[in-house]
Amino acid sequence: MRIVLLGAPGAGKGTQCKRIVAKYGLLHLSSGDILRQERAAGTELGKKAQSYMDSGALVPDVVIVEMMVAAISKTPQTWFVLDGFPRTVNQAAELDKSLASVGQKIDAVLNLKIDDQVVAQRMTGRRSCPQCGAVYHIENLKPKVEGICDNDGAKLIQRSDDSLEVVANRLKAYHQQTEPVVDYYKNNNTVYDIDANRNADEVTALIFENLDAFVKV
Ligand code: AP5
Repeated sequence: MRIVLLGAPGAGKGTQCKRIVAKYGLLHLSSGDILRQERAAGTELGKKAQSYMDSGALVPDVVIVEMMVAAISKTPQTWFVLDGFPRTVNQAAELDKSLASVGQKIDAVLNLKIDDQVVAQRMTGRRSCPQCGAVYHIENLKPKVEGICDNDGAKLIQRSDDSLEVVANRLKAYHQQTEPVVDYYKNNNTVYDIDANRNADEVTALIFENLDAFVKV
């Protein structure tokens, strides 16, 4: 399976990808995680992306497409789930072109649908592990010990782009530039709309139900 997971900031893409990977054994490729790694390593790519990410704007397509096509091409035979990419119609078309050149295609698209009011609560309460990338929430998905990662005991951090002001810009970018990607895929692919306002376990159950049915076809 080659899957794309679409959804607004805070829809739960990262949370659900980890569960999809655990069940179906896919490779998880998150454009946001790769960009944050590049920034932490101080690479040219990380420096180019920095100002866009800090303001909540999208990083230019040309930078993202090159980065994600390179990540996918590293393991050409591996099935994957894409998280946060593609985020513009142009990125989706470039991805399709690149996959077609090696006889591949996106098999299924999961579209996590969430109300804007729910996004703010999720973003401001999110805490992440800087070591293993595990994601928690101060109310919805608490670690066993407050502020500490269950997996490796690291101190949890808050992402710098999770302030209310930046989240508002990220939502704007989502509605203007990423929502049209859903229609792009609806014209060519199997798209599953998932109610992401529900709790994380209920969302996982909906995703697994759809993917299980898809795998059997
Ligand atoms: P990115 O890192 O991709 O951020 P995002 O899409 O805004 O998504 P998030 O990671 O914030 O949220 P998520 O949907 O993964 O939610 P999560 O599972 O963490 O991108 C960051 C930036 O990089 C962009 O702004 C842009 O600048 C740049 N960028 C990245 N990709 C790009 C691209 N393709 N093109 C251009 N620029 C790009 O959950 C959120 C919180 O809610 C957590 O605390 C979690 O515990 C909790 N939670 C999750 N699910 C539930 C639930 N069902 N119920 C209750 N709580 C839940």
